[in-house]
Amino acid sequence: MIKGVKGEGENPVSTASRKPRHIAIIMDGNGRWAKQRHLPRHAGHKAGVKTVRTCVEQCVNHGIEVLTLFAFSSENWKRPEKEVGLLMGLFVAALKMEVKRLKRNNVQLRIIGDRSAFSNKLQKLIVSAEAATAGNTGLVLQIAASYGGRWDITEAARKLAERVKQGDLLPEKVTEELISSELSFADLPDPDLFIRTGGEQRLSNFLLWQSAYAELYFTDLLWPEFRVDEFLQALGSFSCRLRRFGKTSEQVTGENPEI
Ligand code: FPP
Repeated sequence: MIKGVKGEGENPVSTASRKPRHIAIIMDGNGRWAKQRHLPRHAGHKAGVKTVRTCVEQCVNHGIEVLTLFAFSSENWKRPEKEVGLLMGLFVAALKMEVKRLKRNNVQLRIIGDRSAFSNKLQKLIVSAEAATAGNTGLVLQIAASYGGRWDITEAARKLAERVKQGDLLPEKVTEELISSELSFADLPDPDLFIRTGGEQRLSNFLLWQSAYAELYFTDLLWPEFRVDEFLQALGSFSCRLRRFGKTSEQVTGENPEI
C-alpha cells in the first residue's frame, strides 16, 4: 500500500503534509511512573502497554500510515536480568494477545531489530504474528526491539561491503539512496514526527538515519500518562511546523523573498 517514498516530502506545505505519514515514538518513563506509585518497574511497563493500544487506535483513526515504537533498545540488554526477563515475557504476552485486535483493525505488524538475540520461542511468535497480519493494508505498526540506529546502519554497511567484496558493487556507486535501501523498513516513508515522552531530550540511538528530517516533539509526561489528548497535542504541534528540508521558508511557501 505504501510506496517507498523516502526523505524529502514532495510538497512540504501542502495540506496533506500537515499530517505525519510516519510517527516514531520513544516510550520513556515507565519505571518512574511505577516508582511514583511505589510499584515495581514492571507495573510501569504493563501500564505502558495500555498507552501503546491508545496510540495504535489513534493512528488508525487519523489515517497515519506508519507507527514505530521503541520497545527495547540494543542497550536495554544491559538492564538487570530480572527486568529484561519480565520485558521479554511482556512482549510474548502482547504478541499472543494483540494479534486478533490488530487483524480486526487492519494493522500490519512488523518487528525491527536484531531478532537473533531473542529466545527461539519469541522468534517463532514474531514470525507467526507478522505472517498473520502481513495481508493487512491499514496502519503499519513497527515494534523496534533489540534495535539500535547504529546497529541498523552497521548492518547496511556490512551488506554493501559484502557486495563490494563479491565484485558486485563499485565503492563509488555507494549513495545515500543505496544505504537507505539496506536499512530497516526501506519500503516505508521515513518518520515525519519523532516523539519522546519522559522528559529527556535525546534520540538514544533510535532511527538515527531515518529521522534526519523528522520533527522532534518532547514531553515531560511519562509514557503511561501519554493519552489521547497528549497524542492530539503532538499532532497539532506537527501541523504548525514548516518543513524546509534545507530550503528557505520562501522557497517552500512560494512567497516572494525580500532580498
Ligand atoms: C522505557 O521506560 C521503556 C522501556 C524500555 C520499555 C517499553 C515497553 C513497553 C511500553 C511495554 C511493551 C511494549 C510493547 C510494544 C509490547 P523506562 O523503563 O526507561 O522508564 P524510566 O526512564 O522511568 O526508568
